[in-house]
Amino acid sequence: MASVELQNIHKAYGSVDIIKSCNLQVHEGEFIVLVGPSGCGKSTLLRCIAGLEPVSGGRLLVDGEDLTHAAPVERGVAMVFQSYALYPHMTVAQNIGFGLKIAGERKEAIAARVREVAALLHLDALLERKPKALSGGQRQRVAIGRALARKPRIFLFDEPLSNLDAALRAEMRVELAKLHQELGNTMIYVTHDQVEAMTLATRMVVMQAGVVEQVGTPLELFNRPATRFVAGFLGQPTMNFIRVQTSDCTAGRSRLLFAGDSCLDLDARVNPGAAQALEVGVRPEDCRLSCDAQALDLRIEVVEQLGSDTMVHGHLVDGQRMTLRLPGQARFKLGQQVGVSLVAERVILFDAQGRNLAPLEKPA
Ligand SMILES: Nc1ncnc2c1ncn2[C@@H]1O[C@H](COP(=O)(O)OP(=O)(O)OP(=O)(O)O)[C@@H](O)[C@H]1O
Ligand SMILES: [Mg+2]
Repeated sequence: MASVELQNIHKAYGSVDIIKSCNLQVHEGEFIVLVGPSGCGKSTLLRCIAGLEPVSGGRLLVDGEDLTHAAPVERGVAMVFQSYALYPHMTVAQNIGFGLKIAGERKEAIAARVREVAALLHLDALLERKPKALSGGQRQRVAIGRALARKPRIFLFDEPLSNLDAALRAEMRVELAKLHQELGNTMIYVTHDQVEAMTLATRMVVMQAGVVEQVGTPLELFNRPATRFVAGFLGQPTMNFIRVQTSDCTAGRSRLLFAGDSCLDLDARVNPGAAQALEVGVRPEDCRLSCDAQALDLRIEVVEQLGSDTMVHGHLVDGQRMTLRLPGQARFKLGQQVGVSLVAERVILFDAQGRNLAPLEKPA
């Protein structure tokens, strides 16, 4: 177990800045999940932590010790990749023990550690097989076992489950959560899978274009995104953003007016300075069908029946797209117009720069 501190980590390839300036404090035993669009620098950051890439600036501290320029083997870090990269000519046992063999460990010590790791990952019965005789999930467990065998202080995972089918992914996700509970290792994990991120993370880091946008627990980021980018990145289907035409604030209340004479009343004052270019963010599950005169008019274009929910996609009078997630199996005709109200307590206001305006001024 170890704490990790990234201080102003900067990484450039030639003149291109990939990681601009990354500051992150990872506490001992935390499960940190990095998310962000493709190309934002997640793998690069992991490789810098592992020592596989030199940093261009900044410091990396592990348990307070400066390891910025330490060789990979001196860091006590093990990395698991998306492609398991097992040695095809070696058995499972030899793959798991390989790192220890290279490190010059005694044969008996290696065999004991391999048995220990295999028991933990339920690989006991497979130790004499070659990788080609294993399923994808089993291969991934061997790759994790190989990392585990060396008793690393820190585990780095780069999309370890993305080659697996949906059912196996869900199973391995639970296995990883259990493994973390049992070992208590510090883990830094990259994924594109929102469910994986939300369920595994003690804290999540949302990155965009080499910059950390926000760090927080999954629910903090989901409920209180700092920016429109974070709000739109988390949640499936993505949050709706609706332009506000004007806002009217009186006596601690605000009325936001949308195109087509619809409006939303809030029990809070919007900062008048920010009221010029406001956008309302509302998640599809926080929209309701409504016959109210103030409701937004949505023309339905596509309906997706998921069994447990119904996803309704359409556009508002000014052409803005909107998606509702309604519980159960709702029936609609394509082209039908419905009224939509927003759950006022769940909406988020964003200013022209895409910053979350909360906290709004609540009446005394
Ligand atoms: N060796 C390299 N030389 C030059 N540019 C590189 C190199 N490695 C990565 N990059 C660039 O750095 C950026 C970040 O890449 P990185 O692999 O870290 O992204 P990522 O967030 O892991 O993306 P993905 O989700 O697709 O895996 C990309 O624009 C990539 O093209
Ligand atoms: Mg990557």
